[in-house]
Formats: sequence, C-alpha cells, structure tokens
Amino acid sequence: MNPRAIRIAAQGGPDVMKLESISLPEPAAGEALVRQTVAGINYLDVYHRCGIYPLPLPTGIGSEAAGVVERVGAGVTEVEPGDRVAYVHNVPGAYASHRVMPAARLVKLPDHVSEETAGAVMLKGMTVEYLLNRTYPVRPGDFVLFWAAAGGVGLLAGRWGKHLGARMIGVAGGADKCRLAREYGYDDVIDRTREDVAERVKAITGGKGVPVVYDSVGKASFEASLASLRPRGYFVSFGTTTGAPPPVEAATLQKRGSLYFTRPTLFTYISTRDELLASAGALFDLLDRGALTVRIGARYPLAEAARAHGDLEAGRTVGSSLLIP
Ligand SMILES: NC(=O)c1ccc[n+]([C@@H]2O[C@H](COP(=O)([O-])OP(=O)(O)OC[C@H]3O[C@@H](n4cnc5c(N)ncnc54)[C@H](OP(=O)(O)O)[C@@H]3O)[C@@H](O)[C@H]2O)c1
Repeated sequence: MNPRAIRIAAQGGPDVMKLESISLPEPAAGEALVRQTVAGINYLDVYHRCGIYPLPLPTGIGSEAAGVVERVGAGVTEVEPGDRVAYVHNVPGAYASHRVMPAARLVKLPDHVSEETAGAVMLKGMTVEYLLNRTYPVRPGDFVLFWAAAGGVGLLAGRWGKHLGARMIGVAGGADKCRLAREYGYDDVIDRTREDVAERVKAITGGKGVPVVYDSVGKASFEASLASLRPRGYFVSFGTTTGAPPPVEAATLQKRGSLYFTRPTLFTYISTRDELLASAGALFDLLDRGALTVRIGARYPLAEAARAHGDLEAGRTVGSSLLIP
C-alpha cells in the first residue's frame, strides 16, 4: 500500500482534512518507521484542525496511533522491527498509514493489548492515569465529579475511578449517554440537558460538594463546576470542548472556599521516557486485570476523517473513535 496521510493546508472546518500520498524518509538516528494499523481520534485533533491551537502549515493531523515497527535508524534501542507499538505525540501527524517517529516516544504493546485497543486508549487512558493518580490523587471514598462521562476519556475515568474506590458522579448529555456512563462505573450520572449539575451534586454529597471536579467542557461548565466544589476542593480544568473558561482570579478561589485551580496537559505528565512507560504500564496493567474495558464507539476509514470529526464535534460519539488507515 502506498503511504498515505491526512493533511491540512489551512485550519478550519472538517473539510480542510485531505487524504494525500506521502513519501517517507528513511528513519534517521533515533527514529523508527511505523506501519500504522489504527489511529485514535481525540478532541485535541479538533483544536489542531480548527485553529484553537495554531500550527505551522501545511501539517499532518492526529495525536496517537498504533502499529508495527518496519525499520529503525542508527542507535535505536527502545524498539526493533516487528515490535507492535503505540504512541502519543505532541507533533500532529498520526492520521496516516505510515509514520517516522522518535523511537523514544514509542511504547511496546504487551501481548494482551491489541493495536486497536491501544489506538483507543493510549492518549485517553494515560490522561485518566495522570488526572486521577497525579493531578489530584483520588482516595477511596472520595466523591469525584467528571464531565463528558460517556465520552472517550469519560468512560475510562468511570472504571478507573471505581477501581480506586471513588464515588463517581458523571455528567452526560441525554438519557442514552447517562445509561452508558452508569455501565462504565459511575454511581450517579447527571443529565446536563435537563438537570442542574451543581444542585444534583449538592444533593448527592449531602450538601458538602466534591473534593475534585475534572472539567473538560470549559466555558459552558465553569460556573457549575465551581459551585459543585467543597471548600479546599480542586478544580481540574483539562479541556475546552465548548471554548476556554473565563480567566480565574486569585480572589475567586479565595471567596469560593480556598480552592485550587489547575490547567494540566498530558504531555507535561509524560515528558520523560520513565514517566511515559510508567503511565502506559499502569494503563496496560488495569486492562490486563479487567478493571478497564474499552468502548470503541465508531471506526472510520482514514479517508473519512472529516466525517469522524463532524460526529465528535456534534456530540454524536460515545467512548473512543478510531481511524483505520
Ligand atoms: N488536558 C489533557 O491532558 C487532555 C487529554 C485528553 C483529552 N482532553 C480533553 O478531554 C475532553 C474529552 O476528550 P475526548 O477526546 O474523550 O472527547 P469526548 O469526551 O468523547 O467528546 C466530547 C464530549 O463533550 C461533551 N460536550 C459537548 N458539548 C457540551 C456542552 N455544551 N456541555 C457539556 N458537555 C459537552 C459531549 O458529551 P455529552 O453530550 O455527553 O455531555 C461530547 O461527547 C476534550 O475537551 C479534550 O480536549 C484533555
């Protein structure tokens, strides 16, 4: 198969993504050529495509993929030809049949993790790992409020939080998504389309509020998240699906009960190879033990990346979506 990739010449709507033939350089020192069998679709890719995050153009798009190493450059010790691998990379370009990658960013897949599963969970699962283990370390019995609970990150967070012994409160849009989130570990799910989130949180927590809210919705959920926290709670703002939240003044955190506010991103939590392998290792371990199950909501041919983005942005997807090169 001729190498192909989705590329954009301008940032904009889904139709800026075009499937193109590409020529592949030989892997240089420290690099590996991966024949990709699956690429994960993430909201981050939407930010890259539409221009919320400016990029040098033209560019590839996509942040994670899995496949098989075909060739390696000089000095590569991390992987060898034939290894099944996956990666998350902060240089867009994962929507492709082949890719030359820095070998140090590749993670070898254990036998029990298929490439398809890896494509569905590497970015989203490592995100849940750092959010629940390292941003605010969730303890048994903690109430945890998690927005977009039926989404790709959200379903993994439901199961992971349950594994940690937390009381998971999810927010989702509509009855079907609420039902699905409950199946994936959430004790309570609030339907944002017909319920007041902060009021329900207060009722569920006996008026106290939650010690942590994980909010990826941004602008539309900011006030409800603030109002759901107990004093000295953690506001973890990790996405901007509906646009950026307003600037947060120190005085607001004081007045609303000595709160903490953080805006984390996966790449600073897996910046070293040790952190990357530890985070992926924790994820693979939970998959192996059956504590995490993966919901692949949709698979699209590589050529239909535009349709995939349209579905994700319209909130039509549940769980993880994949592109198949
Ligand atoms: N900082 C990081 O390290 C990091 C890493 C990975 C992902 N993220 C962020 O996590 C979020 C989820 O990513 P994903 O790829 O798994 O996408 P996703 O959750 O599968 O899709 C986004 C979801 O947002 C919800 N949503 C849309 N409009 C909304 C609104 N007006 N109010 C409330 N919810 C709304 C929808 O769910 P409902 O209709 O059910 O509400 C939609 O399904 C994104 O914001 C992404 O950028 C951040």
